[in-house]
Amino acid sequence: MGNCLGSSARVDASLSSLTTSASEASRIASKTSSSLPRSTLTIPSYKEKSSPRSLPTPRSESEILSSPNVKSFSFNELRNATRNFRPDSLLGEGGFGCVFKGWIDEHTLTAAKPGSGMVIAVKKLKPEGFQGHKEWLTEVNYLGQLHHPNLVKLIGYCSEGDNRLLVYEFMPKGSLENHLFRRGPQPLSWATRIKVAIGAARGLSFLHDAEEPVIYRDFKAANILLDAPRMQEFNAKLSDFGLAKAGPTGDRTHVSTQVMGTHGYAAPEYVATGRLTAKSDVYSFGVVLLELLSGRRAIDKSKVGIEQNLVDWANPYLGSKRKVFRIMDTKLEGQYPQKGAHMAATLALHCLSTEPKVRPRMAQVLTILEQLQAPNPAKDSQPAHQTVYSPACKSPLGQHRSPLNLTPSVSPLPSHRQCPRVR
Ligand SMILES: Nc1ncnc2c1ncn2[C@@H]1O[C@H](COP(=O)(O)OP(=O)(O)OP(=O)(O)O)[C@@H](O)[C@H]1O
Ligand SMILES: [Mg+2]
Repeated sequence: MGNCLGSSARVDASLSSLTTSASEASRIASKTSSSLPRSTLTIPSYKEKSSPRSLPTPRSESEILSSPNVKSFSFNELRNATRNFRPDSLLGEGGFGCVFKGWIDEHTLTAAKPGSGMVIAVKKLKPEGFQGHKEWLTEVNYLGQLHHPNLVKLIGYCSEGDNRLLVYEFMPKGSLENHLFRRGPQPLSWATRIKVAIGAARGLSFLHDAEEPVIYRDFKAANILLDAPRMQEFNAKLSDFGLAKAGPTGDRTHVSTQVMGTHGYAAPEYVATGRLTAKSDVYSFGVVLLELLSGRRAIDKSKVGIEQNLVDWANPYLGSKRKVFRIMDTKLEGQYPQKGAHMAATLALHCLSTEPKVRPRMAQVLTILEQLQAPNPAKDSQPAHQTVYSPACKSPLGQHRSPLNLTPSVSPLPSHRQCPRVR
């Protein structure tokens, strides 16, 4: 378990077979710095959809850290809350560092006895970690202001000496990655997979449609955390806003930026040009949707040839009602509606279009997924060929065709050779 601990005992049964995701899905980045610059960093800000007034942009570091929505914790408080970052409090490890389970009093937010008060997850930046101070601050900036049932709640942070930590609400079911790819947890049912996809789509949709849109940039199974409130199991929440970026405004069509993200999830045009749009997130969503359908990782080096890359491997089967079963997760044991699977696969295909403009908007993706959740999707109320896209967003590949009715012959997916990838 990386540099976190000598031993790797875990606290959560659902996380019992967790290993480091960052080592498996390497991050794409054109920067390598892991230092913690102390400059007064300014990053663009945005405001909550419901917020009546604009926040000043850009915000200085001190403005970000003085947000009334997040608490500034001392290192000692977090040491006490996590029982000195004990090995058996370890929830997992990513590129940023290790995540520990802890307890705080829900009213005073001070360290509480283990098992009492409110459970938290404390992410501790490793000084030599790839992500650094800038990402830490970006996360405080965004999550300190944006609140939505499908975004993980940031309770506070710690900035003391070289220590950088983040304090989140605890997500008892861990990450989607753990549930889809690890041995141990009960396989996710079809209904749960659709529920997770809907929750994640709602989160992205909220970001993209905010008054000042936000591009998430790191959409992947490891960053989708799963809640378990009463009657609300598997409510999905987006975590990790360290790479989030304010979307283009005015007449601008894209934001030019360093290429950051994770191999296998990042949109090919973004990797090739550094031009970032909300449609880059839509591509990543298509990859995760494929992971949900197939139970396979975006990139799996243990496989051979084309099977190493999920998008390339699944491409020929996605638009075909007859062939789609070939990509479906065998752990589902055939327990999924055929039409629903075809609709979801066709939706994934559309999200993965080479041409970003052809990809649906997240709000449209959400509409389609909600139809899948309805009893008897695509049968009674919503025939599979019925279009749900607004005319403005029709696919240029088939003027009046529904994206749910694409055939492999008009697949917008890149071929293996056409798709530029950073590996
Ligand atoms: N709020 C939380 N509640 C419960 N578990 C969490 C929480 N945040 C993170 N974890 C656990 O810690 C693990 C590591 O999370 P982290 O975000 O550091 O890395 P990652 O998403 O796997 O990789 P990357 O750094 O590339 O984003 C997650 O997979 C999850 O199991
Ligand atoms: Mg993460």
